[in-house]
Amino acid sequence: MSSVHVVYAHPSPAGLTRAVLDSFVGALPSYTLSDLCLMGFPAVMSAREYARAPGDPVPADVAAEQQRLAAADVWAFVYPVWWADCPAILKGWFDRVWTVGWAYKPMVVRPAKRAIVLCTAGYTVAELRASGHYEAMRAVMIDDRIGARAESSEFVVLGGPDRAAHLQRAAELGRSVR
Ligand SMILES: Cc1cc2nc3c(=O)[nH]c(=O)nc-3n(C[C@H](O)[C@H](O)[C@H](O)COP(=O)(O)O)c2cc1C
Repeated sequence: MSSVHVVYAHPSPAGLTRAVLDSFVGALPSYTLSDLCLMGFPAVMSAREYARAPGDPVPADVAAEQQRLAAADVWAFVYPVWWADCPAILKGWFDRVWTVGWAYKPMVVRPAKRAIVLCTAGYTVAELRASGHYEAMRAVMIDDRIGARAESSEFVVLGGPDRAAHLQRAAELGRSVR
């Protein structure tokens, strides 16, 4: 059975995204979770981190995230679409956790077997495709941020108001993790 690490970014325990998270993880036998808002994860890279050279130590909170990822076969990212991207706390997580000498130049992290990007959106997928936002978000998240750091990756947008269908899809995705 694959080990799964979930990175979750939403401040509210009451919305659709939390229900999607619960449906997804409810179908997993076990998982670890970084609930970024609950953790108060610092999302702004410091000047010291920016100036860090490859091989230099990383901050303890960054090292903890990297260790959780390294221990997992499957990575899942669950968040709402905000302004055609992930919430700032998750963008900052990538800024800080995808460090030079770990995520790139060189990439030393063992690639995940599978990355699942699961996001809720106000617009339907058809509307997001028509506006070009779907492909823009997929390119940024899958081609750039995940890239070669996973052997396979999926971009799943649960868009529009069909809550029951979204929860069912999230549970199916959870069950698809073997
Ligand atoms: C700050 C903000 C920005 C948003 N931007 C978008 C957007 O660019 N595209 C979109 O489809 N929905 C957008 N939405 C709608 C959210 O994606 C939608 O309300 C959310 O996925 C529903 O989940 P929730 O109940 O957990 O918040 C935005 C919502 C907020 C609060």
